[in-house]
Amino acid sequence: MSIHTAFTRPASSDAFFPIPTFNLTDPGDDQRWSTWLAVTPSERGPRPHPAWVVTSAGAIDTELGILKTGKEADVFLIERAVPDADVTAPGQSVILAAKRYRGPEMSDFHRSSRYTEGRGMRNTRDTRAIARGSSYGRSVAASRWAAAEFEALCMLSERGLPVPYPVQVNGSELLLEFIGEGRSAAPRLAQQRGTAAELWPLYEQVVEIMRGFARAGVAHGDLSAYNLLVHRGRVVVIDLPQLVEVVSNPGGMDMLYRDCVNVCTWFTRQGLICDADAVFGELVAEMF
Ligand SMILES: Nc1ncnc2c1ncn2[C@@H]1O[C@H](COP(=O)(O)OP(=O)(O)OP(=O)(O)O)[C@@H](O)[C@H]1O
Ligand SMILES: [Mg+2]
Repeated sequence: MSIHTAFTRPASSDAFFPIPTFNLTDPGDDQRWSTWLAVTPSERGPRPHPAWVVTSAGAIDTELGILKTGKEADVFLIERAVPDADVTAPGQSVILAAKRYRGPEMSDFHRSSRYTEGRGMRNTRDTRAIARGSSYGRSVAASRWAAAEFEALCMLSERGLPVPYPVQVNGSELLLEFIGEGRSAAPRLAQQRGTAAELWPLYEQVVEIMRGFARAGVAHGDLSAYNLLVHRGRVVVIDLPQLVEVVSNPGGMDMLYRDCVNVCTWFTRQGLICDADAVFGELVAEMF
């Protein structure tokens, strides 16, 4: 059904004022009204919002399909656009990645307790519901992971680290800057091939990212060649729900070390000479 609200020109009017014409069309199948205004300001990404973020109340979100099914979330592609707007103008139309967390019954949440140690989770009603595995508990758990990843992305993005800009979080759904070309996601580092000399700049970027994390006192916690995208020669780090504070989390140092080993093992396999212990030592020094 379409609602056409046209402000037609009164017979006596002249041409001094532009006459707005609204053509509001209800969302169709696979569409919804933009959820931008449905969330609180704290659930929107850090200010200033980039110019490409669509903030119009009249915008519509359209599902474009699934990008990837992951262990704990599915990533979909959506378009957020103002109907009939000039798609080349900033803030009128954008492709976003929608990461939707599933409840733990369908996902591999073995990481949960390890990663949340030291985060001060109290035995609230929600925590008990999660432990019981009720459907309410499952949705609370999914929302917590989405909120944790959103918070991590906001902090890292404000520090200028190369992460997808977090547009907003809404319950268990996270909307992120889409890293890719057209509708194709950027390849993961794991898919990159080349000589050691060709891969060296990527290694340097990854270590620089890890230094940036260390300066913030955190470790990715699941860093690997699968959670690093390479877009136009630049490395972008993704998948951050388990970001750990290295000092306050009892397993923080182990997780930082594992990140170093994962990264160095992959690059060593590609023929680079790199040493996880040396990188770990450097990062720890950066932290204190
Ligand atoms: N912002 C983004 N832009 C482009 N592609 C993305 C983005 N976020 C995620 N993806 C794609 O979706 C995949 C899964 O994302 P992510 O790693 O965050 O989720 P996950 O559920 O932890 O998945 P996995 O279990 O595979 O690690 C990524 O490997 C990447 O291909
Ligand atoms: Mg991942």
